[in-house]
Amino acid sequence: MLKAKDLIKSFGQLAVLKGISLHVNRGEVVAIIGQSGSGKSTLLRCLNNLERVDGGSIQIGGQPLVTDGAYVPKKQQREICLKMGYVFQNFNLFPHMNVLRNLTEAQMCVLNRSREQAESYARTLLGKVGLSDREKAYPYQLSGGQQQRVAIARALAIDPEILCFDEPTSALDPLLTQEVLGVIRNLANEKRTMIVVTHEMAFAREVADRVVFMDQGFIVAEGTPNEVFKNERVRAFSRMGEEDVKAPDTATVKRFLSNKERAAAEMQQSGVAWRGVTPPILIRSGGMYGARTAIFVEGAQRSGDDRNK
Ligand SMILES: Nc1ncnc2c1ncn2[C@@H]1O[C@H](COP(=O)(O)OP(=O)(O)OP(=O)(O)O)[C@@H](O)[C@H]1O
Ligand SMILES: [Mg+2]
Repeated sequence: MLKAKDLIKSFGQLAVLKGISLHVNRGEVVAIIGQSGSGKSTLLRCLNNLERVDGGSIQIGGQPLVTDGAYVPKKQQREICLKMGYVFQNFNLFPHMNVLRNLTEAQMCVLNRSREQAESYARTLLGKVGLSDREKAYPYQLSGGQQQRVAIARALAIDPEILCFDEPTSALDPLLTQEVLGVIRNLANEKRTMIVVTHEMAFAREVADRVVFMDQGFIVAEGTPNEVFKNERVRAFSRMGEEDVKAPDTATVKRFLSNKERAAAEMQQSGVAWRGVTPPILIRSGGMYGARTAIFVEGAQRSGDDRNK
């Protein structure tokens, strides 16, 4: 389905991918984990042609995108990349379009589907991600978790053969994270081919058929979750996260408190009564540490985020 061989990529003097080879079989879920700066996003962006490699080869669905550093012509690149769907960390929905149009735009412009066809398919996909009742909403009217579910439906709308996620839950608080992970889990059960860059170790363990651990531009461990999580370096890496989750430090708690006040002020300004905030939960996201909170407003929930360490 996807084959990458000896990928090399630098940004100026900085070598980021130092000879990466990766294959993804049909129906397989591959999780990519690793420290911040190890090159996970760069790898995913190169596979999606959002970034160019300096050397190496990529084949998608049997068709070459780049061979020994030489890319096929632009038109072919576009065709090949239609096989790939990409879900961004920060959703990247079109802010001026409602949910339905976010899902129909590419179907009509790129795949030449009629409005009727596009809308009908969009509604099927919204049902799949549990958002049938929100097709008229604009992105700003949705929670982060809902926006991310729309983004997943939008990626699915062009029928990609491989769906790629770059830390799809790192901008979400724990509750909304579960919503989104639930959708990805369902897609995995449908045997969709997926590559997921994630810092959710438990999720990687549960959902991935194969885990790839990257360190400083190399793949240093690869195999089934059981195999990879036995690796000493991977264990040290995943333990690091666990310890931090258990022990928020004073500075974090202080930041949380300032965040809580800011949240209360914001709520009052916008004229909504707020009921309270969950205690801070220290999270690790792509190598960044921060406290996440959930803010409860008259029974509804808004996510709060304080990630600036
Ligand atoms: N467009 C760019 N220009 C210059 N340097 C970049 C660019 N994109 C990434 N880098 C650098 O390449 C290295 C790898 O970045 P990358 O985003 O791939 O890491 P990552 O493993 O995804 O990290 P994280 O877990 O923090 O998301 C980093 O040192 C980063 O600063
Ligand atoms: Mg990244």
